[in-house]
Amino acid sequence: MNVVITGASRGIGKEIALQMAALGHEVMVVSRSAKALEQEDFKVPNIYTLVGDINEWTSTAKAIMEHWSKVDLLIHNAAAFVNRPFREMELKDMEEVYRANVYAPYFLTQALLPVLGSGSQVLAISSIGGIGGSLKFPGLSVYSSSKGALNIMFECLATELQEEGITVNALALGSSATEMFKAAFPGMEAASRPEDMAKFIVNFAFQAPGMVHGKVIPVSSSNP
Ligand SMILES: NC(=O)c1ccc[n+]([C@@H]2O[C@H](COP(=O)([O-])OP(=O)(O)OC[C@H]3O[C@@H](n4cnc5c(N)ncnc54)[C@H](OP(=O)(O)O)[C@@H]3O)[C@@H](O)[C@H]2O)c1
Repeated sequence: MNVVITGASRGIGKEIALQMAALGHEVMVVSRSAKALEQEDFKVPNIYTLVGDINEWTSTAKAIMEHWSKVDLLIHNAAAFVNRPFREMELKDMEEVYRANVYAPYFLTQALLPVLGSGSQVLAISSIGGIGGSLKFPGLSVYSSSKGALNIMFECLATELQEEGITVNALALGSSATEMFKAAFPGMEAASRPEDMAKFIVNFAFQAPGMVHGKVIPVSSSNP
């Protein structure tokens, strides 16, 4: 499989990339920092690193398509995050987070349609905070609501892409010990390790086609 993972220089995305590569798949790791992509872990023949910003979806999609004419699995994992009380939240916070977490997965998928086809899969990495009725936390109104929008958006894309044979789902993750988790919940312990969360995501991606489509699935054993 040709697998593209956005935001894979660290955290959950990196673990997905390493596990997919260890299974023999061709993996494209996308993130903004060229330095972070130079790490030894990525120096294996079936990992290709691409310096790209999902917020610049047109140029990022072009660079992906210059490398591959077919993408079997596109994982939208990169995300922006802000932890700020409602009273202090500014429009620019919302614009930054919604651009990365809502606009980018939508328009990057659209821009990559020429290389997505029957049998391809698009998977959004969302958050349990974006599920209606889940426990909510102070400071996360913009982040969690962006993931709520992402969830519904992927249900809609699943409807539109079904006829083309493209599998579309979102996984709404619970906590995992990454830099983003530390920023969200300083001093707290996460319920999972990124490598274990990645293992679930990798297994899900193998099993979803033909079985799961248009679903938003919580992957959580705790709050958060
Ligand atoms: N960790 C948790 O507890 C948790 C819980 C629920 C959901 N999630 C979701 O899981 C996903 C991964 O989170 P994480 O905790 O692993 O995050 P993380 O450790 O902060 O890693 C984020 C990754 O995304 C990249 N990135 C950020 N903005 C980007 C952009 N505009 N374009 C391209 N790459 C970008 C970062 O690299 P650069 O900075 O170099 O670009 C980095 O590789 C996110 O969608 C997050 O919302 C995480």
